[in-house]
Amino acid sequence: MSRRIHVFDTTLRDGEQSPGVRLSMPQKLEIGHALVELGVDIIEAGFPISSPGDFESVQTLSRNLKGVTICGLTRAREKDIEVAADALKDAERPRIHTGLGVSDNHLEHKLRMTREQALEVGVSAVRHARKFVDDVEYFMEDSGRADRDYVYKVVESVIAAGATVINVPDTTGYTYPEEYRSLIQGIIENVPNSDRAIFSCHCHNDLGMATANTLAGVLGGAGQVEVTINGIGERAGNTSLEEVVMSLHIRKDYFDCETRISTQRLLPTSLLVSRLTGMVIQRNKAVVGANAYAHSSGIHQDGVLKERSTYEIIDPHLVGAEKSEIVLTARSGRHGLKHRLAEIGFSFTDERFEAIYAAFLKVADTKSEVTDADLREVVNS
Ligand code: KIV
Ligand code: ZN
Repeated sequence: MSRRIHVFDTTLRDGEQSPGVRLSMPQKLEIGHALVELGVDIIEAGFPISSPGDFESVQTLSRNLKGVTICGLTRAREKDIEVAADALKDAERPRIHTGLGVSDNHLEHKLRMTREQALEVGVSAVRHARKFVDDVEYFMEDSGRADRDYVYKVVESVIAAGATVINVPDTTGYTYPEEYRSLIQGIIENVPNSDRAIFSCHCHNDLGMATANTLAGVLGGAGQVEVTINGIGERAGNTSLEEVVMSLHIRKDYFDCETRISTQRLLPTSLLVSRLTGMVIQRNKAVVGANAYAHSSGIHQDGVLKERSTYEIIDPHLVGAEKSEIVLTARSGRHGLKHRLAEIGFSFTDERFEAIYAAFLKVADTKSEVTDADLREVVNS
């Protein structure tokens, strides 16, 4: 039987940390409803102690969204945890997400603690959080650059203290897939009580590796992926939900894993988040970009028109897109042009078509895309 992967969406927390993004409460709730419809398992709704707006976000989503775990982020501090517990108190399934750094870089420069002190602080935070909720996720910030033996020690101690999920963030987007996979696998194999927790991938995209690293973590045994819609987030962003979900779906033969996501909701949710955050989706973005199902060259158009799978591994309907698109450009061939002309109601003898094709190429050389209006002009001239 295939392994179930939990989808933890952090669009409203890490995603909202994207420079320039600020969502109002009604917008957060609209996104929250869309995420429930999409089928995510956990929504990280904010960092309650950080601002009244984040507190309200966690509280409002806790009160209004059912059938999903609502999570609030905290530092490993008692006050943070108490405020998060208060914001989460009406949630059907509340989760506190607490933790602190594990790399020597973070310990020395940011936390100014020894490894031993940080371990003690982390363990106390988990114990404190377990007084309020049964579901406590522990994050080890900057795991990607941390000493492995120390990471193993932290994981063992926080699981013993009651953590149910262990988040292994590659906070700085530093690792490569093989390293990240071996980090997750190493933890699972070397920590004696690892069977008592779920391991979670949380990757950033500084070197463009977030999706690959997250999938590598899944191969290493992780049971949860932390993602955002359209990959929005700090700096170069977080792992994109739609890329991970569709990779697991399309390559089920390889991963043998499944999620609860309704893939047809991917594009509508992506468009909603883009509209509300003002973060434009790049045209060639995998899975949800405007060009993701568009074909412009003659060779590709000919293939797709004969059989879609020649150049498309994802049926656009599967992600909620209408259909594959044939875009007419100077690289388009006769098959593509004939197809488009037929779609707008024209058919010609071979001789007349050749003349139209020659006229079409002249127009195409002057424009990035030949529109239906251009075609009508070509036909009528
Ligand atoms: O990137 C990171 O390490 C985080 C943690 C706060 C979970 O976002
Ligand atoms: Zn992060």
